[in-house]
Amino acid sequence: MILTTGSAGFIGSNFVLDWFAQSDEPVINLDKLTYAGNLENLASLKDNPNHIFVQGDIGDKALVAKLLALHRPRAIVNFAAESHVDRSIHGPEDFIQTNVVGTFHLLEVVRAYWSGLSDAEMTNFRFLHVSTDEVYGSLAKSEPAFTENHRYEPNSPYSASKAASDHLVRAYHHTYGLPVLTTNCSNNYGPYHFPEKLIPLMIVNALAGRSLPVYGDGQQIRDWLYVKDHCSAIRCALEKGKPGEVYNIGGWNEKANLDIVHTVCRLLDELQPRSDGKPYREQIAFVADRPGHDRRYAIDARKIERELGWKPSETFETGIRKTVQWYLDNQTWVNNVLSGSYRQWIEKNYAERA
Ligand code: NAD
Ligand code: DAU
Repeated sequence: MILTTGSAGFIGSNFVLDWFAQSDEPVINLDKLTYAGNLENLASLKDNPNHIFVQGDIGDKALVAKLLALHRPRAIVNFAAESHVDRSIHGPEDFIQTNVVGTFHLLEVVRAYWSGLSDAEMTNFRFLHVSTDEVYGSLAKSEPAFTENHRYEPNSPYSASKAASDHLVRAYHHTYGLPVLTTNCSNNYGPYHFPEKLIPLMIVNALAGRSLPVYGDGQQIRDWLYVKDHCSAIRCALEKGKPGEVYNIGGWNEKANLDIVHTVCRLLDELQPRSDGKPYREQIAFVADRPGHDRRYAIDARKIERELGWKPSETFETGIRKTVQWYLDNQTWVNNVLSGSYRQWIEKNYAERA
């Protein structure tokens, strides 16, 4: 049995769905169900007795200790986090609370559980911490992609909180010997992506006839990975990764934001043309930039390929087509997500950028 945290969110729910597509090893899924957590993502597991969902906070030490004692997992995969950079700019508190304090509490409880295991169980145990390329800061156009040895230079409250959690995870290995793995991944996209993030926001806004807000000049570069490739990389690191090691995960797909928006528009023109026959790109609107906006991220994913044999299986072209089609096929999911609190966020983030 393994315990995952934050697996009612975007990447975690894809991870659990993919897990059960290949295995019947039980998963305890601990998720606080913040605005980003959505049990609809896991609806297909409703009757699966091997999926045990528990609503709760990674920072709730008593609850986590109880779950560990009861279920005795062989591994923890920590997805739980506040994940949206713009929200961290409007209100950093929750990011510090979950990403830093929450991870610290989780590590403390896991350490106590792990030190009570038998020698063999202790050796085989893993704590996999899911982190981000944003901890490395921003690259100039000519600089090489981030390797695992790149210095930490986080620039947003979000990335600073993730960097802090990475350091804690590292320290628990060096100080206490906890068998940890850290993965630092680039931008994900795919099914169940909450439409506050660039790609799903553009799809949802385009179809609703709203403007497509591009921050600044739209020339910021991100390195995109289809979410299911991220999930396979995490499974690979969990099974083959060396405790204490860090693995960068990326798709070798550096794209400027404006190119991403153009691609989404082109696919929608083909798959669901506007009723007036005009192209969706007419809806693009350049708006005020994100404060402290990182210009470029790029991941050098050669270590995980060389040492663990992982490679992405989707190209950006295949992955983005699947993603746009998924949103077209899952309008009910989209409509249910666009709740009152979602509308409040959109109002808050975009009103002042106009
Ligand atoms: P998300 O915001 O979609 O989901 C986060 C999940 O964590 C939600 O289900 C939420 O309810 C849960 N959660 C939040 N606080 C919690 C708490 N205190 N206790 C328990 N559960 C809590 O995020 P995501 O995009 O799926 O990202 C998952 C992880 O992957 C994060 O750690 C993020 O930093 C990392 N990551 C994301 C990306 C990306 O492109 N989305 C890329 C690299 C790394
Ligand atoms: O790099 C990994 C990170 O990718 C993860 O750690 C984060 O959890 C995840 O949210 C993502 O962060 P970004 O800030 O890169 O993702 P976002 O989708 O918010 O923005 C992608 C780019 O698009 C970024 O340069 C900002 C820009 N953008 C975003 C939105 C929401 C726009 O131009 N307009 C928008 O409306």
